[in-house]
Amino acid sequence: MLTTFQQHIVQEFARRPESPMELQWLMSAVILASKLIQAQVRRAGLGNILGSFDEINSHGEVQQKLDVYANETLIKCFSLRQSVGVIASEENEHPIVVHKDSPEAQYAIVFDPLDGSSNIDVAVTIGTTFSILHRPERTDSDHPLDWILQGGRRQVAAGYVLYGSSTVLVYSVGNGVHGFTLDPSVGSYVLSHENIVMPEQGHYYSFNEAYNDKFPRRYVEYVDGIKKGALGKFYSSRFIGSMVADFHRTLLRGGIFIYPETPNYPNGRLRLLYEANPIAFIAEQAGGQASDGTQPILDVRPLEIHQRTPLVVGGKREMDYFREFMLKN
Ligand code: AHG
Ligand code: MN
Ligand code: MN
Repeated sequence: MLTTFQQHIVQEFARRPESPMELQWLMSAVILASKLIQAQVRRAGLGNILGSFDEINSHGEVQQKLDVYANETLIKCFSLRQSVGVIASEENEHPIVVHKDSPEAQYAIVFDPLDGSSNIDVAVTIGTTFSILHRPERTDSDHPLDWILQGGRRQVAAGYVLYGSSTVLVYSVGNGVHGFTLDPSVGSYVLSHENIVMPEQGHYYSFNEAYNDKFPRRYVEYVDGIKKGALGKFYSSRFIGSMVADFHRTLLRGGIFIYPETPNYPNGRLRLLYEANPIAFIAEQAGGQASDGTQPILDVRPLEIHQRTPLVVGGKREMDYFREFMLKN
């Protein structure tokens, strides 16, 4: 018998009475929004949804029409839930206040509505990453940013949806990682990857080697070491340019994904709150590790909503060697 996402989450939460009903209800917002987004992604190129929107987002990047559609869809679906106090998105400069002052508001939601925008128009895998945080302790300031600027260990749930050769939802509420594949014939997410454990060692590294002369030497030397057999295996390279897709492969097949700082992005290119944090939460829950080059991503203290970070995420063997290598170099 097939297990749908809905059934799985009911069972999961029954086992963990400390996880309240509202969290289930929030996960159902992810389901609804991702089904709407994937329907547009699947039709991209047919309707008028390809291409740019002639608007610049908060990072000075050109927004694609699908970025805008995905963002609006997620905001709408989450705003319907009374338990959502504040939302932050890659596409909005400031936090969006939803039901913050309601006594029912318990959660902050943070997301990258579409990751891998440069791949939209060429029909390559893209995704959505999300992170759910418990509201902060009540303070005098009670500013919307207080809800958002919380360390990754405060995440109560996180995950992503991949729009690839199939649509896959991967999530964790802090009790392992589970993956569901959308069965388009019935429109339901069906459990396809129960209790995902990242292989201790893989044989792929994922690193944009075009930037070799821009990345710090030690990262390039680390990758060279792996290529030369430092981990006792032959490694091959894969780089899609959608972090979420590169991570998904790393989660299932093992290996390492690396995006360090560059002169153009001195703090790294990826965003801490809605890209690195959910990925790090999933990685740790699956037995892997994620680092900003010096400390675990989940320990980084966020100071800004759109803060960037270097990201290195992978299996135990590659990450142990990474830490050892960084200490020596
Ligand atoms: P986004 O589309 O949300 O702006 O994110 C794109 C990110 C990430 O997905 C990917 O790993 C990285 O940009 C690729 O950057 P480069 O093209 O510089 O390698
Ligand atoms: Mn992104
Ligand atoms: Mn994005």
